[in-house]
Amino acid sequence: MNGIRLVKMIAYEKFDDVVSSQIIVDEAVKLLKMLGSEGYLHLLETVAHYLEPGGHRYHYDHASNVVRHAVNVCRIMGLSASETEKIREAALLHDIGKISVAPQILHKKGYLTEDEWVKIKKHPTVGAHIVKQARGLDRVASIIMHHHERYAGGGYPNPDIKGQHIPLGARIIAISDTFDVITSPRPYRQIQYTTDMAIREIRKNSGTQFDPELVRVFIAYLNHTPPV
Ligand SMILES: [Fe+2]
Ligand SMILES: [Fe+2]
Repeated sequence: MNGIRLVKMIAYEKFDDVVSSQIIVDEAVKLLKMLGSEGYLHLLETVAHYLEPGGHRYHYDHASNVVRHAVNVCRIMGLSASETEKIREAALLHDIGKISVAPQILHKKGYLTEDEWVKIKKHPTVGAHIVKQARGLDRVASIIMHHHERYAGGGYPNPDIKGQHIPLGARIIAISDTFDVITSPRPYRQIQYTTDMAIREIRKNSGTQFDPELVRVFIAYLNHTPPV
């Protein structure tokens, strides 16, 4: 079975309006058990390469860039090797739930309807559900679940969670993700930020969207200076 089909089935098992037949889901779960958690991680990495239809590399580059930024932040903070590895895996797979969003919505130029936003906003919950299917990867589920929360609250999927209650890895990925999104070329964005513009933007959102302590670390990482 093709890996993307397998992961789509798992994503649709609970979250799509059109629920796949139980036989197909059972088949997917059986395959997953055979793969084991290492095989499943490998499969998800492969799927992350192909999230974008038509062979565009945007999603894979995005995942790799977020990994790079997040791991550098972990190193500056002196996190343990195992904590860093956990955050690396979460960064790699943070948007895997987007496999459940139709490509026409994911790559739509122009404004999204409210209904389309609802579908996109499900991706952290779907992603957490996908990684939970494998023992060993379930440890990254809560990081993936909360990577779009806001430090002061009001993010998604849980607007009530805030501050240190948001997992550290999710707070690190939130900054790394935004930085890559605003500095990378995208078909539907007119402005591509320079690093200086992005630093100003991240600073502007310190304490509201982002953890202020991590903002200092992230800017120090970008400037190659010690955090102030
Ligand atoms: Fe995301
Ligand atoms: Fe992302």
